[in-house]
Amino acid sequence: MTDMERLAICPGSFDPITKGHEDIIRRAGTLFDRVIVVVSSNPDKRPIFSLDERVGLIRDVCGDMPNMEVDKFSGLLIDYVRAHKAVAIVKGLRAVSDFDYEFQMALTNKKLYPYAETVFLTPNSDNMYLSSSMVRQIARFGGDVGSFVPAAILDTVTERLRAQYAAVGTTSE
Ligand code: PNS
Repeated sequence: MTDMERLAICPGSFDPITKGHEDIIRRAGTLFDRVIVVVSSNPDKRPIFSLDERVGLIRDVCGDMPNMEVDKFSGLLIDYVRAHKAVAIVKGLRAVSDFDYEFQMALTNKKLYPYAETVFLTPNSDNMYLSSSMVRQIARFGGDVGSFVPAAILDTVTERLRAQYAAVGTTSE
């Protein structure tokens, strides 16, 4: 990266990437010179898709963006941000329910490394209540996730989720 280049990191679990994520990533690509989408481990979540699967799905969806790369990372996000000299962490902020958690992460990251700003983008109104966990739940019970998952990965995601839940069962909870 050159000194002049403004790099943003778009971190998330992306389990799987939704139309809402895609919208945020594409808009980050218009605001910054370069964007790295980083598939990170959220210690509070048990993912369905492996890190490599999630990376592959994001490439399938956003691979046409000339200034976008995808990476995976298992450590502290801010260490990644520092190592890459990124100037911003870009996240979508959907509803009030996101606020406490996102605010806490933004302030903590700022304390750990004050040279990067967390930038929150408002999703477009269609994606306001969209989340990966809703996608997983709808697919789990055989629903159609076509409104929520980018067309490029719809079949892959639907088949993968149905297979996953067929293997573990849908009623045992
Ligand atoms: O899509 P998510 O689950 O809301 O993304 C959360 C994520 C993965 C960005 C967050 O959990 C994270 O940054 N994980 C890496 C570990 C870390 O840095 N934790 C401290 C955050 S202050």
